Parts: sequence; C-alpha cells; structure tokens
Amino acid sequence: MPRMYDFLLYGAGQLVTCSNPGKGPKRGKSLSDPGIVSDGAIAVSGGTIQAIGPRDDVLRAVGSARVERTMDAGGRVVMPGWVDPHTHAVFSRYRADEYEARIRGEGYLEIERRGGGIKRTVREVRAMSEDQLFEVSRRRLAKILEGGTTTIEIKSGYGLDLENELKMLRVIARLGRELPLDVVATFMGAHQKPPESSGGSAYVRLVIDDMIPAVAREGLAEFVDVFCERGVFSVEETEEILVAARAHGLGLKVHADEITPQGGAELAARLAARSAEHLTKISRAGIDALASSDTIAVLLPATTFGLGSRDFAPAREMIDRGVAVALATDFNPGSSPSCSMSFVVAVACSQMRMTPAEAVNAATVNAAFAAGRGGRVGSLEKGMQADFAVHDVEDYREIPSRAGTNHAVAVVKAGAIAWERSAYETASEVGL
Ligand code: NIG
Ligand code: FE
Repeated sequence: MPRMYDFLLYGAGQLVTCSNPGKGPKRGKSLSDPGIVSDGAIAVSGGTIQAIGPRDDVLRAVGSARVERTMDAGGRVVMPGWVDPHTHAVFSRYRADEYEARIRGEGYLEIERRGGGIKRTVREVRAMSEDQLFEVSRRRLAKILEGGTTTIEIKSGYGLDLENELKMLRVIARLGRELPLDVVATFMGAHQKPPESSGGSAYVRLVIDDMIPAVAREGLAEFVDVFCERGVFSVEETEEILVAARAHGLGLKVHADEITPQGGAELAARLAARSAEHLTKISRAGIDALASSDTIAVLLPATTFGLGSRDFAPAREMIDRGVAVALATDFNPGSSPSCSMSFVVAVACSQMRMTPAEAVNAATVNAAFAAGRGGRVGSLEKGMQADFAVHDVEDYREIPSRAGTNHAVAVVKAGAIAWERSAYETASEVGL
C-alpha cells in the first residue's frame, strides 16, 4: 500500500460503484446492479483508486499513512463521474428559435432545408477564429463539469471542409489539455454535405481522400462518425467512409436509424463499430445484430425530448434482448441543447422505462466503453482513475426522480477536486 494518499473520501451513505466484474460493457441482468456499498470510502493516490469499500476496511488499509486531503461525504451519494459518450459540444451559439419553430410544428429536416439546423451552425463556426471557438466551448465544458460529468466525447462536424474540421479538432484537443475533464475526439466531417456541395459523391471523396488521412496524420481524433440517414449519407457512403477510417487506425461510430430505419445498426454491427448512436427507429433485425455484436447502442433520450417527439429508442427491448446500452446527451445547439447527464438519466427512466440502476450503469460504465475509455473510468474500483461526484441526495434514485435540479455538489477528477459548490454542507437536506 502507498505511504501517502492524495485523497481520502469517507461517509458516502451510498457509494454507487457501478463495478464491473465482467470487465466489458454490462448487458442484461448485470445492468441492474449498481454495486452499492453502504457507508463507503475511497482512498486515492497518484490519481488512481487504491482502496474502496466499507469505511472501516478502507481506513484499515490506509492505516497511519499520510493523507493530503480528506472529504466527509456526510451521508450523501457518491458515484462515478458521468461519462458522456456523444456530444457536439464545440459550436457557435444555440438555435433556440428553432426550438420554438419545432414546437409550432415545423420538422427538423424542414428547418434544415430552409437554411437552418446544422447548416446555420456551420456558417457561424466557419466565421469564428480558433480562439473564439475555444473560449465559448471552454465555458460550456466548465458547466458540464459542475453537473458531475468527468469524461466527454466531442464530435467535429460543423466545419465540413478540411480547414474548419481541423480547426474544430484542435479546439477539442485544447479543451482536453486545459480542463479537468477527459476529452475524446471524434472526427465527423460526414455530419452533413456542406452548403457548397451539389449533393453528389464529391464530398464523400474529399472526406475519404483528404480529411481522414489529415486527421489521422495529425493524431486529432480517435473515432470517425457518420450521419447515416436518408438525404444525408447513404448506407453505402457510410460504409465507404468507415472502411477508410478503419484503414487509418481510427475507431468507428455511426449516427444510425435516427429518423428513418436504414439498417445503420446492422452496418455498425457488421463493421464491428464501437457504437451505433440514436437508434430511435432501429428495426428488430438491427436490435438482434447489435445484441450479437460488441457494438454499443448509445441512446440519446434528451434529443427526443428536445425535438418535442415521442420517438424514444426501444431501450427495454434492447436491454431485454442483450444489447449493451449506454446513454449520452447528444449536447448540440439544435436538437439537444441540454448538457446534463442527470437529466438524460431522468428521461431514460421515465420515458424509456429503464430502471434507475440500468440508467446509471448506462451513463457511467457502459458510456466509458462507448467512448473508448472502458477499464479506466466509469466505475469505482481499485486501479481505476479516481473520477467521482458527490450528489446531495440520500438515495441514488433521487437523481432521476428529483429531476430538474443539479444535485452534484463536488466533482473529483483523477483524485483532485475539480469543482465544489460553496457552503453545501450547511444548505443540505441530507444527514439531518
Ligand atoms: O446528433 N443527427 C445529427 N446531428 C445532431 C444534430 C446537430 C445539430 O442539430 O446541430 C444530432 O442530433
Ligand atoms: Fe449527434
């Protein structure tokens, strides 16, 4: 055992570990186990969990070693930091007018056709300098951290030409360097065909021949994602792009079966993609394909909510048939301007009938696998990075049931306090 610890947390009324004895993403019944330790403690050294479990066991393990910093969780819930494995968090500004237009009845694709939607954000992002784009994004990520998120995947895709896609990816890399969050970069040049494209295959060639090689050469992304949708990128185009990405050593993700069932989930499974995301219109064959693959289904119920739709992905059927399910915000300026994983967990429970335990596992351990960080973050176990949040609740099920409030009061990243709400001890309902 180490002779010195950076951090010792004790007094966790519920220490929700999301522990993962199977080592891969959780499926079926194992998704139902939140791995709760009552009156738990965590000892950290070198950013890594050295001891975790009931308070007495951890204190015995620490013994008389020096401890740099202690924290009494005061009976509150302590959980892994959220892992958000699908966001478009680097953008210009929110499109709140489109939110109202959708409520009034205009469709998402109709708004796109009249020059709104992604195209509008592309125009704005192209006009911004790299420093401006960094600064707006930095402020957003600081807020995201306050919600208890400690790892985030961010996609490019509002540049849609080589220069502006690289600009976005450099901003994403800088966010990871300068903020206390782990940031995973995904190249999504195939988010849309750009405004200047005639809609033909020339842009697909540009993505394959110029953009993917440049992104891989500069080491600016771990994954490549494609919006596989009628009128955007066909299944054939998606496959061509993903095969090229794989040849450059990049991992694969697909925006699949969101608006029309296209067989995107089946394609993702066949190419052994890391994840298939959205899946609101997934077919039975798509569910079966994912269930018998290692591809993770990343579900985005805040997008359905943000679009004012009722089309939630069939999470129950997926889980019951053995699909590894994760949750994410899809945080973006249009369809899902919410960046709160607690909110996503709440919508997943009330609208997709996931149990709180399933939703919490999907938003932590499984989300970490979807973001390529499985085995390192997402669960609280010996040897894992010490990323956790203290939530001002007595029972973790209050996080979804008491939706609309950010219950996080302290966020620890790699064993260091990354954010703490001031004076929460005296304003708390917990422990009275
Ligand atoms: O995942 N589906 C495609 N793209 C995004 C929307 C991005 C935007 O509206 O700006 C999504 O929902
Ligand atoms: Fe998305």
